[in-house]
Amino acid sequence: MADTGSTPNALPREILPGVRVCANPTAVARAAARQFVDWAWQSIAREGSFIVALSGGSTPRELYRMLATPEYRAQVDWLRVQLFWGDERAVPPDHPDSNYGMARRELLLKVPIPPQNVHRMEAERPNIGRAAHDYEEVLRQVLDLDERGFPRFHLILLGMGLDGHTASIFPGSRIPVQTSRWVSTPMVTKLGARRMTLTLPVLDAARRVLFLITGAEKADVLQRVIEGGADPPYPAQLVQPRDGTRHFLLDEAAASKLVPGDEAPAQPQDRTRRQP
Ligand code: 6PG
Repeated sequence: MADTGSTPNALPREILPGVRVCANPTAVARAAARQFVDWAWQSIAREGSFIVALSGGSTPRELYRMLATPEYRAQVDWLRVQLFWGDERAVPPDHPDSNYGMARRELLLKVPIPPQNVHRMEAERPNIGRAAHDYEEVLRQVLDLDERGFPRFHLILLGMGLDGHTASIFPGSRIPVQTSRWVSTPMVTKLGARRMTLTLPVLDAARRVLFLITGAEKADVLQRVIEGGADPPYPAQLVQPRDGTRHFLLDEAAASKLVPGDEAPAQPQDRTRRQP
């Protein structure tokens, strides 16, 4: 694959529609920070706010760190940013596994975002189902709804696990593709733990979904997510914004199994099939 940015500030190279590749995880974080700033400017100019669902796990940590640096922090009108989470573990906010806790350490404590604009998932509550309903009420207060009645984020950040999960939508269990719920609390068998997560219709209602995926260990699953064909489809494959755009920012290692569009033989359009 041609050089996709071995120099620190090289721009990512688009290898497929919506799929851009950077040299390494730091370059991915930098490209994502630039994109965050651009989309924030667009949303705030157009609608007066930038409403984002942050992802968890380890990949976005470097992005949050980068957004907190003077270079990027100064480019965002944080007073007009509203932050939610795409999913959360059933742990207190100060627990090392907390997605909110990681974002707080790397970003929230370092940028002037008003506390009332930060909406964490209270997944540690004994009644996590009640907490999910309460989160839906906060979503209802802050976000506009799309034509199907689902809250519409300006941006949802997502990662992908080695098994193709995204947010806390895991393979194996019957994935509620068609649900009226905005927030669910699945028991994740492989983890032996419950999670709180935005549901697939909410992910699909977003104006923009941005996947940040790095590492060679994800290359095989990522190829099947992007090129389609896995049966049943991976959860990450099922995220198809209805009236929005889907973007991937990858490092070379994660993208190593993808065939760039200018090299791939002509293929019939293979739209991912949703589960029945
Ligand atoms: C979580 C995330 C999850 C994450 C993937 C990838 O709570 O774990 O929301 O969906 O994005 O598991 O995690 P890594 O970035 O650590 O590989």
